[in-house]
Amino acid sequence: MTTQFSATGVELDLHRYPQTQISNLQAWDAADEHLLKWLDEHTDTQPLTGPLCLINDSFGALTCVIRAKWPTVPLWLETDARTSLLGCQQNLQRNQLSTDGIQWYNSREILPGTPQQVLMKLPKNLAYFAHQLSRLSAVLPQGSQLLIGAKAKSINQSLLSLIAKHLGAASASLAWKKTRIITVIADGKSRPEPAPLHWNVPELNLTLSNLSNVFAANKLDIGARIMLDNLPVDEFQQVIDLGCGNGILGLRAAQLYPKASIHFVDDSEMAIASARFNWQTNGFEPERGHFHWDDCLTNLDAGVQADLVLCNPPFHQGEAITDHIAWQMFNDARKRLKPGGLLHIVGNRHLGYHIKLKRLFGNCKTVASNGKFVILQSVK
Ligand SMILES: C[S@@+](CC[C@H](N)C(=O)[O-])C[C@H]1O[C@@H](n2cnc3c(N)ncnc32)[C@H](O)[C@@H]1O
Repeated sequence: MTTQFSATGVELDLHRYPQTQISNLQAWDAADEHLLKWLDEHTDTQPLTGPLCLINDSFGALTCVIRAKWPTVPLWLETDARTSLLGCQQNLQRNQLSTDGIQWYNSREILPGTPQQVLMKLPKNLAYFAHQLSRLSAVLPQGSQLLIGAKAKSINQSLLSLIAKHLGAASASLAWKKTRIITVIADGKSRPEPAPLHWNVPELNLTLSNLSNVFAANKLDIGARIMLDNLPVDEFQQVIDLGCGNGILGLRAAQLYPKASIHFVDDSEMAIASARFNWQTNGFEPERGHFHWDDCLTNLDAGVQADLVLCNPPFHQGEAITDHIAWQMFNDARKRLKPGGLLHIVGNRHLGYHIKLKRLFGNCKTVASNGKFVILQSVK
């Protein structure tokens, strides 16, 4: 796997985040290169003064090249993923690039004004994409331009119509390295942000709400469902819901373990905002709920020593299928458990998590299983 990225005459050493993953995946893709090529070709005629707004820059490839090539241009970076923010910061540091003039925003914060130019990578989740476009419609004056880099195969008429509906007319460039640039001209009409989805889980007496980039939009995930049917019984005091999404596992834990503090952790800021909202609307005591926008348990307060970690881990990062996040979650959980504490997870049967857990904890019990999923438990 190469880490040497070269674009528009700039050479950089770029890594994905976290860097320790065993993976042959690069920290950039051809759509990044295509966007940078476009920028390079067009700034001869129209100088780049900024601010430049970069949205969904996975690990900072766009940010780092632009910083290296146009060091004084102010940058506004928008991401929902903590790992993108941390990856970008690490890559800037690794390449001795300054963070002066860079401002970070999550996908719910209002941008501070009108940028000169907006560059965006197409996210996988189209509801989230529509949300991001609607937000932009509130700050982009009529006639301003947004460039979206995407795989050519992801672009079709219905995507262009979705863009037109939420921001303005869109057209796609010719393909280059199997990617295209979509040029969007804002129509100047401000759209409201889409309302979060609200739904009920009557059997648990819970109401849930999901912002647009939160896992399992409006129904229970099947893995979460089997997990909910098989939660351990004890008087737990400190519980971590690791990769909490809308917080469903932690909310149920709060019902089952009335003395427990519950820590909700997720890479997605929208997930954390949704879990916090769900905690409040379901009437749990404020002092029992703690919310952390983090990469696994990297920055969790050292004082948190859990007796139970609940985890329904992801098996992809962006578009890449990978088990490195699950592995990192299990490792982090082991570090944060008290002796005798439990890691209780759900996984697709074929993913072989029991082998990982056995290796890490020296023990692993199958608590329940059906055709597709297993619930596994390891004791520290
Ligand atoms: C399979 S979903 C589970 C969501 C919820 N717990 C449930 O059971 O419905 C996995 C969650 O892990 C989160 N996630 C992915 N990478 C992460 C990371 N590095 N650190 C923390 N959370 C992460 C995702 O945003 C997603 O919400």
